[in-house]
Amino acid sequence: MTRGRLILFEGLDRTGKTTQSEALLKYLNLQGDQSSSSKRCELIKFPERSTPIGKLINNYLVDKSFKLPDQSIHLLFSSNRWELTEQIKSSLQKGNDVLLDRYVFSGIAYSLAKDTERMDFDWCLSPDIGLIKPDLTIFLTTDSDISTSNQINNRSGFGAERYEKSDFQLKVKAKFDIVFNYFFKDYTKSSSATTSNMYTSSDGITTLLKVNVIDKDIP
Ligand code: TMP
Repeated sequence: MTRGRLILFEGLDRTGKTTQSEALLKYLNLQGDQSSSSKRCELIKFPERSTPIGKLINNYLVDKSFKLPDQSIHLLFSSNRWELTEQIKSSLQKGNDVLLDRYVFSGIAYSLAKDTERMDFDWCLSPDIGLIKPDLTIFLTTDSDISTSNQINNRSGFGAERYEKSDFQLKVKAKFDIVFNYFFKDYTKSSSATTSNMYTSSDGITTLLKVNVIDKDIP
């Protein structure tokens, strides 16, 4: 039996990851229904808020008065990925595709954006070492910092959770560039608002598609 594909959607808050991953889920499941195989596709969104660790993370995100050291919440996010690892592996082994909405790259980029002393890149990456690698990473982003700030700020519901502040999101965007430069060969900032670029990781396994958010709600 061929192992299923692990496909990851990454990006800033409110850039369309959930919409795109749900659309792909629907598409792949429709294809599955039409073929003779019984393969199913599943979507896992990180943080997965229903697990014991996920519940703590959810409290931290929705209740801005809930205090945790930056190191602790970073480790909880990573721990939450480990909680789901066996489930992901077992689905892939059954031949099912698994879609992820956020994963390790968010973990590093968001924590680096806090500029916490001694929480450098290696520190942030280390608890995730050994997690299963995505076969494809799709990074949803915007080109200019001004459009990032305006687009994200105008999405409905923006601001409800802890990290939904446009100045923080701009910092995260810069950190995503550092993270993707590290993991993906030849990753550079795109200069055109309409191009999609693909980059291959240095081990040749993972591809990053840098696409721009097309946001119809914004005039
Ligand atoms: P969500 O909006 O995609 O549910 O993610 C919740 C927030 O958690 C979002 O602002 C990104 C942040 N986050 C981290 O800081 N570290 C992580 O490892 C993950 C998965 C998310």
